Amino acid sequence: MQKVVLATLVSALSIAASANAAELNIYSARHYQTDEQLYGNFTQQTGIKINRIEAKEDELLERIRTEGANSPADILITVDASRLAKADELGIFAPVKSAELEARIPAHLRAENWFSYSTRARVIVYNPSLVKAEQVQTYEQLADPALKGQVCTRSGSHPYNLSLGAAMIKHNGAEATENWARGIVANFARAPKGGDTDQIRSVAAGECGVAIANSYYLARLMNSERAEDKQVVSNVKAVWPNQNSWGTHINVSGAGMLKHAPNKEAAVKFLEYLASDDAQAYFANGNNEWPVVSTLKVDNPALNALGEFKADTLPIGELAATVAEAQRIFDRAGFR
Ligand SMILES: [Fe+2]
Repeated sequence: MQKVVLATLVSALSIAASANAAELNIYSARHYQTDEQLYGNFTQQTGIKINRIEAKEDELLERIRTEGANSPADILITVDASRLAKADELGIFAPVKSAELEARIPAHLRAENWFSYSTRARVIVYNPSLVKAEQVQTYEQLADPALKGQVCTRSGSHPYNLSLGAAMIKHNGAEATENWARGIVANFARAPKGGDTDQIRSVAAGECGVAIANSYYLARLMNSERAEDKQVVSNVKAVWPNQNSWGTHINVSGAGMLKHAPNKEAAVKFLEYLASDDAQAYFANGNNEWPVVSTLKVDNPALNALGEFKADTLPIGELAATVAEAQRIFDRAGFR
């Protein structure tokens, strides 16, 4: 334990000591192969060296909190609106005004203190030998008693489901969302376990008829060369939910500048860089996501195969602010 603390201290000190040069300190909960190019490209363009600490979201937040005003961190990068909201609630972000970011990132994908850089959709995946396509066209339908024993899901308290719950509260109201959550629980094929990919595999194996999953998990399976994954993909079908109502729920990866950032100028430059064409391609492709800059063409076989869809345009900041209410509602409904 002490060793760990010491190692953390030493690395924090070495970052703090070099904070005055043309450098930028990034705390990231992302770790994709293309991130190397993403950061290398920025250094090449600007001469600003990037020091990066990668860890799980909660560890990074704890670290930023403990470091307080002495934190060397300039930027926090993480995934999911609910996690960005949690960081924001801790008051660690500094507002950034940038005409460039306002021009490049659609308004509904910007929050007051952070910016979205890629989007992912929460899709419905079903097994056509167990449920009919017309039964699973909307999130709301997953609570229909006709699907009793057919629904597989990861935990209701996972950020991805909480963010979906928040969107449902905004569109359908709190009461309808609580009833929906109860309906989902009543339709469980089994108690929630595993991640989204596990749910897709369970649907393919016929353990359940339908599940919800983030699009990049499905895209990853679709782009996979493994025979096992190809089999999974051929056994399931995907639906863009809610195309005739409020659109498919989307979530984001995002970043913000930290309040005590020692390198604020470099931090703003980096946030602007993330919205550039080059960076957007790296940022989105690294995890089979869509860039937020709409003029950018996506070149991803799986995403191309999934095709176009109508996405929910609920402002991401409003969504994030509703996640805590979704948690209370899911708790009451026993969706844990
Ligand atoms: Fe994920």
